Amino acid sequence: MAKLIAGLGTSHIPAIGGAIHKGLQQDPYWKPFFDGFPPIRQWLGEQKPDVVVMFYNDHGLNFFLDKMPTFAVGAAPQYHNADEGWGIPTLSPFQGEVGLSWHLIDALVEKEFDIVSCQEMLVDHACTLPLKLFWPDGDCPVTVVPVCINTVQFPLPKASRVYALGKAVGQAIQSWDSDKRVAVIASGGLSHQLDGERAGFINKAFDLKFIDSLLSNPEWATQFSIHELVEKTGTQGVELLMWLAMRGALSAAGPKVSRVHSNYHIPISNTATAVLALAVD
Ligand code: DHB
Ligand code: FE
Repeated sequence: MAKLIAGLGTSHIPAIGGAIHKGLQQDPYWKPFFDGFPPIRQWLGEQKPDVVVMFYNDHGLNFFLDKMPTFAVGAAPQYHNADEGWGIPTLSPFQGEVGLSWHLIDALVEKEFDIVSCQEMLVDHACTLPLKLFWPDGDCPVTVVPVCINTVQFPLPKASRVYALGKAVGQAIQSWDSDKRVAVIASGGLSHQLDGERAGFINKAFDLKFIDSLLSNPEWATQFSIHELVEKTGTQGVELLMWLAMRGALSAAGPKVSRVHSNYHIPISNTATAVLALAVD
């Protein structure tokens, strides 16, 4: 059976793509963010995952307000970047892992998650940037199954449901008939609000507590309603749901995880940024 080996989390912001494109990793503005990645890249180089399941939120690119699935799973052979245009200007398509996609879709529907299956799926910065941040050199060495969670149009799925989805994904990964090594990635947040009266809102105390909870008490954040999460983390801070899904997947693999490395830096653009790598013990 496949082996679930790691959980990764990172913020996504289109400007990160611009910084990668311009080679600004050592620039004083960007360095505290990019410095979080080398220890994790080195560890991934030893762990050698073959496949990643990416929990991310589309931003109105593949799904718009007219058709907005709560949960959608990619089952495409390739995923093309079609972001707004101010990130990485040219990006080769990422390779899918169609066998795992359909295994996840079967397992999730069996567990009563009525997800949308997508044999075609354009992806934006939320799906592409984590792959460029964790594997910056050359062709991406992992295949991808994107799992998209709605954070754009209300009603959003509540935290406990997202955690349960993650758990079901983790169980399905481990029942996939394959000898591949799988990592799960969360792409989003942490606290941020891009518009309205509270534009620029960041909540460092909550973010740090949330990151700690992922180690010691992974269901801590499921006590909060979506409106409470918006209040505490900003309208776009609800992207932290991705991190809960990632952690839910790991809890399907075992009772304990350990922190490989983490970093927190505020702000990049309007966002509190974090990166985290968890190993399944
Ligand atoms: C920013 C943050 C996001 O999560 C996003 O999707 C787009 C932009 C920002 O802080 O600029
Ligand atoms: Fe976002």
